[in-house]
Amino acid sequence: MNSQYLMIALGATVLSQAVQAADVLVPVNLPESKPGQYVHEAPTLDDLMADETINPELRKVILKGYDMFMNTQQFRGEYVFNDMNCKSCHMGEGRMNWSGPVWPAATTLPDYRGKNKHVNSLEERIAGCFSYSMNGRPPAYGSDDMLALAAYHQWLAKRAPVYERNIAGRGFSHLGKQIPGDVSYEKGKAIYESNCAICHGSDGAGQRKDGKVVFPPLWGDGAYNWGAGMTRVFTAASFIKNNMPLSKPGSLSDDEAWNVAWYINSQERPQDPRFTGDARETREQFIGFHKHTRYGTEVNGRVLGQHDNTGEKPFLKPDNLKPRTFE
Ligand code: HEC
Ligand code: HEC
Repeated sequence: MNSQYLMIALGATVLSQAVQAADVLVPVNLPESKPGQYVHEAPTLDDLMADETINPELRKVILKGYDMFMNTQQFRGEYVFNDMNCKSCHMGEGRMNWSGPVWPAATTLPDYRGKNKHVNSLEERIAGCFSYSMNGRPPAYGSDDMLALAAYHQWLAKRAPVYERNIAGRGFSHLGKQIPGDVSYEKGKAIYESNCAICHGSDGAGQRKDGKVVFPPLWGDGAYNWGAGMTRVFTAASFIKNNMPLSKPGSLSDDEAWNVAWYINSQERPQDPRFTGDARETREQFIGFHKHTRYGTEVNGRVLGQHDNTGEKPFLKPDNLKPRTFE
């Protein structure tokens, strides 16, 4: 095991039953990297401030990208229509290995992406998380906001080899993709009630304090939509195993992580922007993705995703999610 520490800034917002401290360091036991893998140490904000070679104008733009990443809610109703910030899923400011570090997109793109079946740029990859994970509408390609976010990603990749794809701790999938055969809704519910509901709520809606999201929702209108990577049970299971419960990451067994991921992803959430009007049909059309989700399948007598609810978003699919071809 590879012990690292993750700073969790809960501050005064923490509920009395949960963690009491302000900024606390919690030990995180992370998987080992495999032989031959590239292990990246992403620079920190302190490194950025201390770097005298960096042009002050560039530093300003990177800092703006950082601020957008950490507090994406400032764009609520513009780019974001749910309760998420980028950092809600990309822990440790998007730097943490095994928690979906975001910098690999800056060194491995442009590349073909199966999800939208064309060659994607870094901006398009960022746009993907806006459209699905944030249930939103991405900033325009080439805009100041997109440039700032891209600059933050690129800077986190400092010194990483370009087009190296064998990267330790990338994404969220180290538990593998195969869902255990004995996974159960009821077991997942029990684990959820005793380990997660205290922060995320029994109804999965998360918690707010003074209008600010303190604990993000896991399902319902404020959560990631049916097209988001986190709806894949294996992705949620690995994320949860390494990062949750926030106060005690790594404390669940693999089996507990699978069951609770199964339970969370058996709940309703805003529609997949690729919806054709029929959830079973949409599932089949995007089966490469949805074979890992419960979308379009029957759970407790209802077909998940068979509804027109797009959450707070007044549209289904953002206009700037366009296919691209090189005919
Ligand atoms: C609800 C959780 C969630 C939120 C919120 C979220 N993401 Fe993601 N993000 C994911 C998942 C899941 C993946 C896919 C990781 C994998 O491949 O397993 C991903 C992948 C990425 C990648 C590609 C990383 C790589 O390895 O190539 C980038 C870049 C990224 N996200 C940026 C963002 C940005 C910027 C935001 C905010 C606008 C954001 N994400 C918000 C869940 C989220
Ligand atoms: C002490 C409070 C706390 C507990 C307990 C907790 N979480 Fe979280 N969870 C958070 C916070 C806060 C975030 C967002 C991280 C951030 O913004 O830095 C989060 C993020 C998440 C996310 C990704 C963002 C989203 O909303 O989709 C998932 C999934 C998740 N938690 C699942 C769980 C599960 C499953 C459990 C129980 C095993 C759990 N959490 C226990 C506080 C908690």
